[in-house]
Amino acid sequence: MTGERFDSSQPHRTNPANGKPLFARYDLDRAKTTLTKDSLSDRPTNMWRYREVMPVIDDGNIITLGEGWTPLLKADRLAAATDVNTILIKDEGVNPTGSFKARGLGAAVSKANELGQTRLTMPSAGNAAGAMSAYAAAGGMEAHVFMPKDAPIANKVECEAYGARLTLVEGFITDAGQMSQRAAEELGLFDVSTLREPYRAEGKKTMGYEIVEQMGFEVPDVIVYPTGGGTGIVGIWKAMDEMEELGWIGSERPRMVCVQAEGCAPLVAAFEKGEEFAEPFPNPQTLAAGMRVPAAIGDFLVIRAVRESGGTAVTVSDEEMVDGMVEMARMEGVFAAPEGGATLAAMRKLIDSGLISRDERVVLLVTGNAHKYLDMLPAGMI
Ligand SMILES: Cc1ncc(COP(=O)(O)O)c(C=O)c1O
Repeated sequence: MTGERFDSSQPHRTNPANGKPLFARYDLDRAKTTLTKDSLSDRPTNMWRYREVMPVIDDGNIITLGEGWTPLLKADRLAAATDVNTILIKDEGVNPTGSFKARGLGAAVSKANELGQTRLTMPSAGNAAGAMSAYAAAGGMEAHVFMPKDAPIANKVECEAYGARLTLVEGFITDAGQMSQRAAEELGLFDVSTLREPYRAEGKKTMGYEIVEQMGFEVPDVIVYPTGGGTGIVGIWKAMDEMEELGWIGSERPRMVCVQAEGCAPLVAAFEKGEEFAEPFPNPQTLAAGMRVPAAIGDFLVIRAVRESGGTAVTVSDEEMVDGMVEMARMEGVFAAPEGGATLAAMRKLIDSGLISRDERVVLLVTGNAHKYLDMLPAGMI
């Protein structure tokens, strides 16, 4: 952290001095006078219930489709099957556009709206593009999307349905990122790539607020998170510090588990080698499109949060993810995207290796709904 300050009434991307992400900061002493635990009972049942710690200043600029306040389901049958005390599934698949990307893009598009940025662009593995396109449509804004051509069909169709200009890219999300950046320069668009503007993380942090609120202001022992760029881990970790300053929790923290696919695991490799930054992962392959991120600008932030939390980073194979999906669907009625299936597979591995103990409370972050991935699932899966 450099401590430099930037004017929040101006659009920003990364810190021009070093290219690193910028974060929104709030006057939490002031916020805590109104954002009390008791105040929450009559607030909106969406992520804007945490209004004082959200980046939009004027309510009139908020573009909402009802994102957030997703259920935290008690997965008793899975808990019995794995012999773990408490498993909670945070079901983000019920968000508008079917994934947790609605939170980050709901926040970023609303803030862009407030800053007068009405022509947006981004690269996306799929779900983020769908979410941006939906919020841009709801706000009457222009959306440009750059997506690897082998992304799930649902993501391509939804972007077009929402009226976005979709460019399919030969290559990975990193290639799409370069094209989005070029389009931003050439066409004067505002690029809302994750962690390259400060506000997507603000939307994603609300998952941390909700988990704690839904657990009666207690902190789980472990949060298992399927990681691509890692904005969710970074956001949830930020939420924990904010909640401590607000007086909602003490210094206790969940252990953050970063799950990646065997075929694309740059952060796990860096974590295991004790490094601060990750090397780009060569030839990334996984059916979990959201986890096919070979290089991420926030790598050091994710690795730092995982280490500070006492957590770990682990890989699962595509086959294990699919097994996790099927098990979660059959035992809990939650049809998770492969990324969500990966959290169950990872939890099982960590129980076997003793890194999660059976008396703990574990939150599995099911980041999206499987309906968007039907074309990606192996034949004969069900
Ligand atoms: C369903 C799903 N899960 C997980 C991720 C990874 O999210 P993050 O960028 O926060 O690591 C994505 C990103 O596209 C996704 O779509």
